[in-house]
Amino acid sequence: MSDLKQVTHIDNVRLGDDGTSVIIIDQTLLPGRTEYLTLRTPEELYQAIFELKVRGAPAIGICAGFGIYVLARGIKTEDYDEFYRQFREYQQYLDSARPTAVNLSWALNRMEQVVLKNREQGVRKILKLLEQECLAIQKEDQQMCRSISEYGLSLLKDGDGILTHCNAGPLATSRYGTALGPLLLGKEQGMEFHVFADETRPLLQGARLTSYELQRAGLDVTLICDNMASLVMKNGWIQACLVGCDRVAANGDTANKIGTSGVAVLASFYKIPFYVLGPSSTIDLSCKTGADIKIELRSPDEIKKKFYEKPVAPEEVKCYNPAFDVTDHTLITAIITERGICRPPYTESLVQPCLNSGESITCFG
Ligand code: MRU
Repeated sequence: MSDLKQVTHIDNVRLGDDGTSVIIIDQTLLPGRTEYLTLRTPEELYQAIFELKVRGAPAIGICAGFGIYVLARGIKTEDYDEFYRQFREYQQYLDSARPTAVNLSWALNRMEQVVLKNREQGVRKILKLLEQECLAIQKEDQQMCRSISEYGLSLLKDGDGILTHCNAGPLATSRYGTALGPLLLGKEQGMEFHVFADETRPLLQGARLTSYELQRAGLDVTLICDNMASLVMKNGWIQACLVGCDRVAANGDTANKIGTSGVAVLASFYKIPFYVLGPSSTIDLSCKTGADIKIELRSPDEIKKKFYEKPVAPEEVKCYNPAFDVTDHTLITAIITERGICRPPYTESLVQPCLNSGESITCFG
């Protein structure tokens, strides 16, 4: 396998062979160590998501789908009502691990629908159908990433300078990723890009994961601190910004890793196209605007201590640590889904990718 394939064809989340566990790459140890974790219990699954051992909106959804299947297999009853009661408990518990990425509740709801629609089939058959559904969620994500990558690549030129924030590559999804997908696909086709990866404080997904993935795949990647984005744009080194998304509201307001909205503001000032890439499962039409999106708040220690040999701030200082921010739709040039490229007005163009017809759109708005 070429280095590129080792990155684009990695199974960072998978169902254990006997169906009793979920196996993930522990992303908190990268890039230094590649270690796999075997998750079997509700607590192990919850902690893996909460502590970002598995992270990135689509990967969280895939893990949750596998996870609820593993837990459902462990429910020791043939009685449907009792089975569903315990299933719901596990569902709610896993769903509470992280609030912002809609893919978590989306995947769990999809699994719940299998249970609800097949009541008459009995518990054994339901378990079989749950297994098929969680494997389908992963398979569909692979296809969606590929398609997003193709649409995204159509917006880029050979030699472009690209800025990306956080990590929306294969580790955050399956196969190509979303925001990094066009770059990996372009590389496969012989194109060259000059990528600037924001380190992405405080959890450093850009430094630890994006630069790792792109470098392994043989792309030209330069790591910068978040506060250097403005300078590289001013220098004329960036022709497009590509970012992922955790929840897209009906009007196009987009929640993504903290710092994304700052990049979008800068891109608008320097007249650089700002593209959001994500599967249609990340669009949440029940959120009218970004104000409806719940933002995850995390521990101050991530700012003050984590990744440092000694604390870098006074022990008692107050910290505000939102894990995501919302980029205003007016700053987004286009939202690229597996079904096509959505352009403003998003209240109209985002509706079509969410329709369940399966056919491709090319350009909306
Ligand atoms: O907190 P994280 O690392 O899970 O946040 C990840 C992001 O914000 C990604 O950009 C987003 O989930 C898209 S991943 C394809």
